[in-house]
Amino acid sequence: MHTKLYSSIFPSIILLSLVFLFLYSTFLPLYTNNNSSPLPTNKFLPFSSSSTCNLFDGNWVSNSTKAKPFYDETCPFHRNAWNCLKNKRDNMGVINSWEWVPKDCNLERIDPWRFLEWLMQVLKSGRERELGEGLIFPSIMSQLPIIGPFCLPNTISAQDELKGVYRVDVDIVADDWSSITDFYDVLVFNTGHWWGYDKFPKETPLIFYRHGRPINPPLGLLDGFQVVLENMVHHIQKEVPKNTLKFWRLQSPRHFYGGEWNQNGSCLFDRPLEEDQLDLWFDPSNNGVNKEARTLNHLIKEAVQGTDIQVLDLTRLSEFRADAHPAIWLGQKDAVSIWGQDCMHWCLPGVPDTWVDILVQLIHNSFETG
Ligand SMILES: *[C@@H]1O[C@H](CO)[C@@H](O)[C@H](O)[C@H]1NC(C)=O
Ligand SMILES: *[C@@H]1O[C@H](CO)[C@@H](O)[C@H](O)[C@H]1NC(C)=O
Repeated sequence: MHTKLYSSIFPSIILLSLVFLFLYSTFLPLYTNNNSSPLPTNKFLPFSSSSTCNLFDGNWVSNSTKAKPFYDETCPFHRNAWNCLKNKRDNMGVINSWEWVPKDCNLERIDPWRFLEWLMQVLKSGRERELGEGLIFPSIMSQLPIIGPFCLPNTISAQDELKGVYRVDVDIVADDWSSITDFYDVLVFNTGHWWGYDKFPKETPLIFYRHGRPINPPLGLLDGFQVVLENMVHHIQKEVPKNTLKFWRLQSPRHFYGGEWNQNGSCLFDRPLEEDQLDLWFDPSNNGVNKEARTLNHLIKEAVQGTDIQVLDLTRLSEFRADAHPAIWLGQKDAVSIWGQDCMHWCLPGVPDTWVDILVQLIHNSFETG
């Protein structure tokens, strides 16, 4: 039972895994080469864009001369099913020719070496911290203050007390959380997929507890989700220092067309959706297959309103990209007949690389404007 619940959390860690594995994999060779030389101390800013523009509002523009992805199918960190180059997904060249162009600002592509160099200077100068063991960065990078990657199940604690019943204590902080309070400089929270309706049929329901007892009358998934969010946000505001940079990543949208994942839903698109299609696909009032991202986002935005947690709204820009999921190219012969098409995770390289660019630019902007 645990396995099932926790494996459902896995998709939520994609973004962070990517950021850090990516930084690591790109940075490591550079760092190794420069191992013996002192760290550069020249001062420069790696980005030029202003901190006030909205990186989330824009369009995907086709650019056939766009710079190539930083990595290819040999990258050892990617799950096989998302390695769309290796799995020979159609259209990978086209998928990666689309460039996210925000309306009023420049989105620059991450330059990992410059970013880490800059970050190190910022953190060294203004934010002296004890250096600890890196969770993700290996020891070769232990001179760096750590940006905290954190994969937090929103289920503050979960266990199957009765057979087949999932318990979520809305007021008990998971053990993982106790260590995040004052160590990290940047935290990115997200809400994963633990709340998925289809994971909890009547026979194995999710039951919300407070003060050690089932909440009565029982909360439905969305109401329970909201209470958990409120408690998380309250905890973060109380325990995490003010100068820790905090983001909440909104939901990654799915693109099942014509039915759910287990009802032959498909995503064999060869170009992004048009802007005027998005509401039809995703607005909860249209009751489509993929409505849950906006439904949950609404609750998340409400919960973080008035706090110092910034919303990382990767949903909308991702909503366009019906063309960028692994779909039927899963690298395993029977995968589609067993699990259906994958219209939820993203091809790599692909849309998550844009997420990384945005996150990095926001981290930069936030530290530069203090
Ligand atoms: C396409 O990408 C290249 C490389 O980043 C860039 O120099 C060029 O300005 C882009 N073209 C358009 C139309 O944005
Ligand atoms: C999915 O497609 C298969 C093969 O075309 C068909 O046999 C099956 O009934 C379909 N399932 C659903 C839920 O539509």
